[in-house]
Amino acid sequence: MKVLVTGSNGQLGKSIQKIAISYPKLQFTFTDVEDLDITNYKQVLDYFHHLKPDYCINAAAYTQVDKAETEVELNKLINITGPSNLAKASKAVNTKLIHISSDYVYNNNSEEIMTEESPTNPKGQYAVSKLKGEIEIKITMDAYFIIRTSWLYSEFGNNFVKTMLRLGKERKSLNVVNDQIGSPTYATDLADTILHIVINNNNKFGTYNYSNEGFTSWYNFTKKIFSKNNIDCEATPIPSTEYPTIAPRPLNSRMSKEKIIFNFELKIPLWSKSLDKCLRNIKFS
Ligand SMILES: NC(=O)c1ccc[n+]([C@@H]2O[C@H](COP(=O)([O-])OP(=O)(O)OC[C@H]3O[C@@H](n4cnc5c(N)ncnc54)[C@H](OP(=O)(O)O)[C@@H]3O)[C@@H](O)[C@H]2O)c1
Repeated sequence: MKVLVTGSNGQLGKSIQKIAISYPKLQFTFTDVEDLDITNYKQVLDYFHHLKPDYCINAAAYTQVDKAETEVELNKLINITGPSNLAKASKAVNTKLIHISSDYVYNNNSEEIMTEESPTNPKGQYAVSKLKGEIEIKITMDAYFIIRTSWLYSEFGNNFVKTMLRLGKERKSLNVVNDQIGSPTYATDLADTILHIVINNNNKFGTYNYSNEGFTSWYNFTKKIFSKNNIDCEATPIPSTEYPTIAPRPLNSRMSKEKIIFNFELKIPLWSKSLDKCLRNIKFS
């Protein structure tokens, strides 16, 4: 099967590249904006007509949540027009599209564990654009998998784990938000799940939640990062109200993974076990 990956130089894209060798039955084409700009419809359509991929994994996105409040049009172009272009081109050549979305589409401030049917309530430019990107795909085609993930980190690029490792070594103490609850997601686990869906090829299309198992706060996540690395920096828990951000963050990112586990017979690792794996990979990279 031919698999086209967009945004291959991002954290998820690089994680897919890292494990691609374990999927010898899949013939990958890895692209990033310089090879295939998902906002350019003509280029996308030509690329799909030429390659005729069985699957397209869209790992391309605008992911700078706060900057999206000022780079409004660029964020919309990449997160709404981009998926729309990929959906139209996928439909034209019978490609199945796997698109990545976000827990930010829910933003429900209860303690509810959100299923894919829970109401959406995105706040801020990035969150709204992620939901609109999903809608563009849903109104264009049927053969899609939309995977809503949360708190993505990896040994690649910039992310919370790498930032905390750096700050923990630079500072003696650090305030960390303790009232936003969710599940970290190791990008390698997400990459594996996506390729498992491709290999399974069971056409159980639709919207799915995916993160590592178990819920935590950014504060507890930080404490774990520090303790596993013997970092002697004191983390202090604070409420979100004491850490204002330009774009709002959801307090509740608890997502149910029952649907994806059931439809693809998955076993999802606990977030703390996956953190161990990532920290080992960071150490040796
Ligand atoms: N990071 C998180 O915590 C998080 C949480 C929930 C969901 N997600 C979702 O998970 C997915 C993967 O996130 P990530 O952290 O891997 O993102 P990332 O590291 O920011 O990677 C995105 C990639 O897309 C590329 N790109 C940007 N514009 C493009 C265009 N027009 N055409 C083609 N490629 C383009 C970027 O290139 P440049 O770097 O050159 O711009 C980058 O290589 C995204 O859909 C994101 O919304 C992420």
